[in-house]
Amino acid sequence: MALMFLSADDPVEAWREALLAEIPGLDFRIWPEVGDPAEIDVALVWQPPPGELARYPSLRAILSLGAGIDGLLAQAGLPDVPIARMVDPSLTRTMSEYVLLATLRHHRQFDHFERAQRAARWSFALPPQAAERQVGIMGLGVLGSAAAASLAAHGFRVAGWSREAKRLAGVESFAGPDGLDAFLARTEILVCLLPLTSHTCGILSAATFARLPRGACLINVARGAHLVETDLIAALDSGQVEGATLDVFRAEPLPPDHPLWHHPKVLITPHVASYASPLTGAEGVAENIRRARAGRPLLHQVDRGRGY
Ligand code: NAP
Ligand code: GLV
Repeated sequence: MALMFLSADDPVEAWREALLAEIPGLDFRIWPEVGDPAEIDVALVWQPPPGELARYPSLRAILSLGAGIDGLLAQAGLPDVPIARMVDPSLTRTMSEYVLLATLRHHRQFDHFERAQRAARWSFALPPQAAERQVGIMGLGVLGSAAAASLAAHGFRVAGWSREAKRLAGVESFAGPDGLDAFLARTEILVCLLPLTSHTCGILSAATFARLPRGACLINVARGAHLVETDLIAALDSGQVEGATLDVFRAEPLPPDHPLWHHPKVLITPHVASYASPLTGAEGVAENIRRARAGRPLLHQVDRGRGY
């Protein structure tokens, strides 16, 4: 049987080399030149074309090259086989780096100084200490809890919001719909690291922004559909939200005429907040290939009912 690799964004040769080091003799086929579809038993994928995975009758598992599997679950005709999310130390570390960088940029008012420089304006303003700055992370899973720990280590006052309450050193925990108001009311820099589900779609809306302290900032590194973009633009224009760092969008690539591109209070990055590395991710993928072939539960297996 063979592994099919399907991704336009990931380094295929590095993945092949790393997986062959883990499983010598692995039959590694690169989409679309995969030969007989009936010989493919495991698919390692990122954003496969709609319907493509239904073409492989012997498929035993789908292994995602990304942490978020909302795109897979949204596909019509997705085979009813176990799906595993990507959990990889490099993916986690790069997300923590991005969140720390974006948080520091808002905290130290670099967004404000960038605007002032464009207007040749000497805008003297001292920021509060990190210990006086309240950062809130929506989603305290693999990525959110690591980002929270890194922010706490830098001295920020960190809280997180999740479905179930958590016990994380240095992180105040809020949980469920009942915990959301209090979480938002204390959050000056809001980071979204939720999975995209029917419960979280559109959660970054006018109603949410209105519950933040005036002048709060937003960092969305989860999925574009978490954000109601027109609500954010209105909140930025009114001053309710003072700045935003956005890595993900409803339409990617973000169309050239989209108003977010030129909004003075928005920093845009092209969905690069974090990514898996074959050097550190291959071990877990190889273990899941073995598990799929042995009919055992996968590591980081997705709960389809829950949606993440
Ligand atoms: P994860 O480990 O599955 O964690 C998800 C967290 O969200 C959990 O803490 C969960 O709560 C919480 N959650 C889910 N539904 C909720 C709800 N309705 N209300 C409150 N909390 C809820 O996911 P992860 O690996 O950290 O990844 C998170 C997301 O980041 C991915 O789904 C993906 O969309 C995004 N991502 C983006 C990039 C990028 O480059 N921009 C890269 C990687 C990932 P419980 O712990 O209580 O279950
Ligand atoms: C990237 O967006 C991922 O889900 O890993």
